[in-house]
Amino acid sequence: MATRKRATSKKRSGEIKQSTPELIAKKRDGGAFTDAEITHLINGYVSGDVTDYQMSSLAMAIFFRGMTPKETAALTLAMRDSGEVVDLSSIKQPKVDKHSTGGVGDKISICLAPMVAACGVPVPMISGRGLGHTGGTLDKLEAIPGFSVDTTTKGFIKEVKKIGCSLIGQTADLAPADKRLYALRDVTATVESIPLITASILSKKLAEGIDALVLDVKVGRGAFMKTEEDARALARSLVRVGRLAGKKVTAILTRMDDPLGHAVGNALETIEAFEVLMGGGPEDVREITLALGAEMLRMGGVAKNESQARKQLLASIADGSAIKKMEEIVKYQGGDPRAVTEHDRMPRAPKRTKVKAKKAGVVTEIDALEIGLASVGLGAGRSRADQAVDPAVGIMLEKKPGDRVKVGDTLATLHVRDSKTANAARPRVAAAYSIKGRGKKLPPLIMDVIRR
Ligand code: URA
Repeated sequence: MATRKRATSKKRSGEIKQSTPELIAKKRDGGAFTDAEITHLINGYVSGDVTDYQMSSLAMAIFFRGMTPKETAALTLAMRDSGEVVDLSSIKQPKVDKHSTGGVGDKISICLAPMVAACGVPVPMISGRGLGHTGGTLDKLEAIPGFSVDTTTKGFIKEVKKIGCSLIGQTADLAPADKRLYALRDVTATVESIPLITASILSKKLAEGIDALVLDVKVGRGAFMKTEEDARALARSLVRVGRLAGKKVTAILTRMDDPLGHAVGNALETIEAFEVLMGGGPEDVREITLALGAEMLRMGGVAKNESQARKQLLASIADGSAIKKMEEIVKYQGGDPRAVTEHDRMPRAPKRTKVKAKKAGVVTEIDALEIGLASVGLGAGRSRADQAVDPAVGIMLEKKPGDRVKVGDTLATLHVRDSKTANAARPRVAAAYSIKGRGKKLPPLIMDVIRR
């Protein structure tokens, strides 16, 4: 059996004398937990000995008091070991994955994973669904007719071995402590805690059996982390804890004030990612894909440096191996591989309607948060985890920051199911555009690369 079962042993958690209320009080009063205390609390949470109300109180204590890197690493490992840990050791090369902290129009995983796999680095990728204003890779992949993101651990390992890449969703057995804790944090105002976010992201990624991880930590209006200071703190925490867990981790800080690319919405974004694989696609999407991909090739040991890695990635587009890899993945996962290049096979919304410019000038900004929310309003996203999404609807941003516009020019095209949702979205999308008399210098998209 190629999976390692949970390591929730008494040996690791030791005999803990204090009761759960005493441990909560320890953190409330600013104390630092031992590894054994953390393992004891997480194991207790999974088994039911620690209740939801005790865990939410503990999460709030962590929110205010924080955790040391050592505590955060222990929390990450305890959460990873709350379920199965995929054993990919039968694949000898380093396995590398990517994670994004989430943004608007972020379809990077869909072009990145096949490119990196086509260059010879295995990519076992377990992604999430969209929640709130940010989209999710799984919803975008499911826009491909027939494509399934559900498989068993065995199926996941088999696909990575055979194709070099698997794009699936989190199974019930993977980091179950995170699944419960994240749902609890969502309703107890304890999401925005750097140690808790670090443990949540890394526990899932470490359970995939990877050797290295590249993180796209997004900063700005449309991101989870609104300020550079917070994003840097999260990036440093992720890199440090990942290393303490014995993995190579790089975080790339990227700007998420404006949506990424032109397309926002599931099928529209997937098509845009396919265009990148075919040698086109928007400049910003290509730039981030190449930056993350170069780091993955370096960590995967197939390129010595960034410039060599970029050449290899570009070659995978030019020689067709990247698009072919995507077709192989789609076919393997039950989808229609023709949809990768024949985009009229992808879902299409029944109506299109335009948002026109009411003033002339230069587009200086597009509020990513507003565009994300407008797209959710059209049906492309969800505001509750159990809602279904409409794969076909979304927004095409025809004008981007730096573009000059005249009165009456189309700023964006809404792909809609009905006029009611279109009428609600139109003013919101128009208001998301800032049009000024003069343009301003666009800040660099890639803000920093953090390796330690
Ligand atoms: N994404 C996660 O997976 N967990 C968090 O806590 C925040 C973002």
